[in-house]
Amino acid sequence: MKLITTHLNADFDSLASMIAASKLYPGAIMAFPGSWGDSIRRFMASPYYSWKLTKPQEVDLNQVTHLIMVDTKLASRIGPFSQLIASNPALKIDIYDHHPPQPDDLKGEIEEVRPAGATVTILTRLIKERAIPLTANEATAMIMGICEDTGFFSFPTTSSEDLEAAAYLLRCGADLNIASHFLKEELTLEQFEFLNDLLRSSERYRIRGAEVFIAILYKDKYMSELGTVVQRFMDMLKIDIFFALVKIGTHSSLIARSRFKGVDVGAVAGEFGGGGHPSAASASLRGMSLLEAREKLLSLLSEELSQMEEEVSAPSFSAEGEIITRNPTLPLFQNLTSPMREQLPAELFAIIETISQTADVVPINAFLVGGFVRDLLLKIENVDLDVVVEGDGIQFAKTLAQKVEGSSKGFPQFHTAVVMFPQGFKVDIASARTEFYEVPAALPVVQESSLRADLYRRDFTFNALAVRLNKPHFGELIDYFGGRRDLDEGIIRVLHNLSFIEDPTRLLRAIRFQQRFQFQMEGNTRKLLREAVEKGILNLLSGTRLMNELRLIFEEEHPAVAIQTMAEFDIIKFIHPHITYDKTMGRISDNIEKVISWYNLLYREPEPKLWLIYLMGLFEGLSTSERQEGAERLNLPPKESKTLTAYPEEMTVIITKLSRGKEAKPSQIYSLLHRCRLEVLLYTMAKAEHEAVKQAISLCLRHLSQVKLHISGDDLLKLGCSPGPLFNKILRKILLAKLDGRVSTREEEVEMAKKMIK
Ligand code: CTP
Repeated sequence: MKLITTHLNADFDSLASMIAASKLYPGAIMAFPGSWGDSIRRFMASPYYSWKLTKPQEVDLNQVTHLIMVDTKLASRIGPFSQLIASNPALKIDIYDHHPPQPDDLKGEIEEVRPAGATVTILTRLIKERAIPLTANEATAMIMGICEDTGFFSFPTTSSEDLEAAAYLLRCGADLNIASHFLKEELTLEQFEFLNDLLRSSERYRIRGAEVFIAILYKDKYMSELGTVVQRFMDMLKIDIFFALVKIGTHSSLIARSRFKGVDVGAVAGEFGGGGHPSAASASLRGMSLLEAREKLLSLLSEELSQMEEEVSAPSFSAEGEIITRNPTLPLFQNLTSPMREQLPAELFAIIETISQTADVVPINAFLVGGFVRDLLLKIENVDLDVVVEGDGIQFAKTLAQKVEGSSKGFPQFHTAVVMFPQGFKVDIASARTEFYEVPAALPVVQESSLRADLYRRDFTFNALAVRLNKPHFGELIDYFGGRRDLDEGIIRVLHNLSFIEDPTRLLRAIRFQQRFQFQMEGNTRKLLREAVEKGILNLLSGTRLMNELRLIFEEEHPAVAIQTMAEFDIIKFIHPHITYDKTMGRISDNIEKVISWYNLLYREPEPKLWLIYLMGLFEGLSTSERQEGAERLNLPPKESKTLTAYPEEMTVIITKLSRGKEAKPSQIYSLLHRCRLEVLLYTMAKAEHEAVKQAISLCLRHLSQVKLHISGDDLLKLGCSPGPLFNKILRKILLAKLDGRVSTREEEVEMAKKMIK
C-alpha cells in the first residue's frame, strides 16, 4: 500500500502537495500525521474540497510498502508514520520537498528537492511534464499551496518555477478568488487582539542599516495560526524582518520571518535549536527568558548583518528616521499640492507651507492627517489643520509658534499641542509615538517612530489618510489602509476589528459620518458595530462623552437620519432603556429638522441648543422620572436637566391654550410664550399638529419677540412715576397694547403711560 503524508501542523502547501502527489501515485492513500490549521479546516468544509484523508490511527502500518513524503524529509516531522522507517527496512521512500538540507534528512529513492517557493510547485512541474490532466478543483487546491508559501508571490523565496507552476494551474482552471478567500481569511477577535498586542509591543531596531522588528509577548492561552497573524502584521506595517518572542503558559517560542535576502531566519532559529526556511522559521526557547532571547537575537543579527554589509554594498534602507520612503512599493500615488492650493484659502495654504518649512529646518517628519485630508479629497471646506510629527510635537509647536510670532500651548499628558497663528487660525499638533531603545553596546541606538502606527490607531480608513509636508515630498498622499478607495466608493470601514471596542465613541462617529457623507458602512464594520452594541460597550462611555457625541450628531445637517440609524442599531437604549423609536418619533425628528432650518433663516440670536430639541424628541414617551434618569445618564447641567424633565407639561399648556379654536390675540400669545425657552418653543412647533399652534409660535419668534417700546423707565420718571414694581407693570401693559396694535407711536405710548400713572 502506498501512503502519502506530510509534516505535523499541516499547512496549505502540505495539503496541496499531497493532492498533487495523489495524481502521481494513483491509488495511494493520504493521511496527515498530526493537526492542521483553521483555514484548512474551513477549506475542507467547503464545496471546493473533495479528497479523502485517512485518519492516522486507521492506517494499517503493516500494509504500507511505499511512503511518499511531501513538504518534509525529516522522520521527526511525520509523527506516527516515523515508525514505518524504523520497523520496515524494505520501505520504499520518495521525497518531494523545498526545505533547505538538514543533517537528519531522510534519503529517498526518488528525491525531488529544490528551493522552490512551495513544494507543490515541484510536483506541478512533474504533473505538467507527464501531461496528467487536472480538474479545476485540483488546480485551485494546488495553487493555494503556492500562494500561501510565496505570500501571493511576494516573498523573496518566490522562484520563476513558482510563477510557471501557477500559470499552468491557472490554465487548468485554478480560481484565485477561491484561493484568496480561504487564504486571506478575516482574523478572529482573538487574533486581532494578538495583532494589537504585536503592534503595541513591537520595537523597531535599526541594525547596521537594516530595520528589524522584535515583539515580546506574554499570553495566557494558546492561539492557533499565530503565523497568519504575524504575516498580517508584517503586511500591514510593510515589515521585512520580524521576530516574535512569545511565552504562552510555560512554553516560550520564537517566530521568525524575513522577506529580506540578507537575513536567513532559518539559520537564526537554528541557533535557538529550531529551524525552517530562510523566510519563515521557529524555535522553542528552552532555558532562557524572552529578554535573554532578545539579547541573543540582537547579537546574532548584528553578526549576520555585518557580514551582509561587507557582501552587499548598499542595502535598500534609507536614512535614519525615514519610514515612509523606505519601501518604494508604498502607495504614494497622488500629490495633493494643487488641490490644496486651489481649494484652500490662500492664507491657510501659506500656513501649511510655513509648517512644511519649519519641519524641514528642525528637521522632523510632519504630516497633515485626519478629517482635513478626508475633506480635501471630498472637496468639502475644512480649515482645521491636524498635524502629526514623528517626534516631539510639543517642541515642534513651540518652534512653529516662534517662527510665525504666534503662541502655542502643550498638553504633555497627550503629547499634543495647539499653535495659534496671528491670522486667527489654529493648528493641532500631535506626536506620533516615538520611542528610544538602548540595545547592547555593540549595536546602534535605534529610534522607532511611526506615522503608520499612529494612523492605524484611528477610527476609519478615510480618516487615516495623511499628506506629507517635508520637501521634496510635499503634498504626497499617504494611504496605508485604502482610505482613498473607500472615500471614492463611499464606504465606512474600521481599520481593525477592535476599533469600536477600543473607543466606543466610534459607534456614534460611524453613524454621524454615514449621515453626513451618505456613505455605506462596509459589511464587517456593520457586524462589528452590532457586536459592540450587543456587548453593551456604550455603557462604558461617561455621560459627558456620550453627550458630546450625540451633540455632534444633532448638530449635523440631517440628525433625523442618524437617529433612525441609531434606532436600527439599537443604540438609543443607551441613553435610556425605555426610549422606543417609532413612526411618530421619526416624524417628529423630521419636523425638528424642518423647524430648525426655518428658524435659521430668521438669523436670530441666540442660537438654540439643537441637541436639547432632539433630546426632547427622544424623551417624548418617557415618564418624568425616566426623563430625569436620562438627563442624569448624559450628565447634563441642572438647567438643561430641568428643561428636559419639565418640557412636556409646559408644552401641553401651550398646545391646549393655542388650539382652543378661538384665535388668540398677539398679546395673549406673547404672554403665554415669552418666558418659555427657545428650545421648548421650537420643539412644540415640531410636535404640534394644530396649524394655529405653529402659526402662533412662529408669530412670536418672528415678530412679537422683536417688538420694543419707544419709551423706557426714564420717560416714566419724567412723568413723575417713582421707581418700583409699578414701573414694569406699566411698561408691560403698554407693550401688550402695542402688540395688539392699540398703540404704535411714541406719543401714543406716552399718552397711555400718563393715563395709567394717573
Ligand atoms: N479620531 C479617531 N477616533 C476618534 C476620534 C478621532 O481615530 N474617536 C481621529 C480620526 O483620524 C479623525 C481625527 O482623529 O479624523 C480628528 O478627530 P475629530 O476632529 O474629532 O474628527 P474629524 O475626523 O476631523 O471629523 P469632523 O469633521 O466631524 O470634525
